[in-house]
Amino acid sequence: MIQEISIENLDLLNDSFLDKSLVFNDLKSNPFGHYLVYVDEKVVGYIYYSDIYERAEVNQIEVDSFHKNCGIGSKLLEKMINTVDKDITLEVKIDNIPAISLYKKYNFVEVATRKGYYNGIDGILMERKK
Ligand SMILES: CC(C)(COP(=O)(O)OP(=O)(O)OC[C@H]1O[C@@H](n2cnc3c(N)ncnc32)[C@H](O)[C@@H]1OP(=O)(O)O)[C@@H](O)C(=O)NCCC(=O)NCCS
Repeated sequence: MIQEISIENLDLLNDSFLDKSLVFNDLKSNPFGHYLVYVDEKVVGYIYYSDIYERAEVNQIEVDSFHKNCGIGSKLLEKMINTVDKDITLEVKIDNIPAISLYKKYNFVEVATRKGYYNGIDGILMERKK
């Protein structure tokens, strides 16, 4: 089941791999920020995105190590795509094959390379047109 986290229901994150205080700070400091979590008894995956006027951006997506490769990342990204219903951008490390494969599955394309963006490792800017 996918649910949105807000300041009011942060207790959903108790005993999960996602740090409650990090989410609290993100939601407090980013007026465009949203957290969708995948719950399977407890929270096992999340997508953090920003819905910024005419576009949206994936800030982070992560599935805990015991639940990877079960389709949870796909479900979270799909939910975000359908919810925002607009062009989406994101940045990913050039060597992050699982994440790049996930994004390509949902028709994100590479639009630019950010030289040394991640402590010397290149980043790729990807975009998905609505
Ligand atoms: C990227 C991540 C969220 C994917 O989540 P997931 O639940 O394992 O993904 P899914 O099971 O839905 O797989 C979706 C697609 O990703 C690709 N994929 C997933 N794991 C992969 C791997 N190890 N190698 C290659 N491709 C992979 C496949 O194309 C897969 O589609 P398919 O199974 O239909 O062919 C997960 O690997 C993760 O948490 N990574 C660490 C955090 C991270 O790097 N986040 C991205 C930051 S930009």
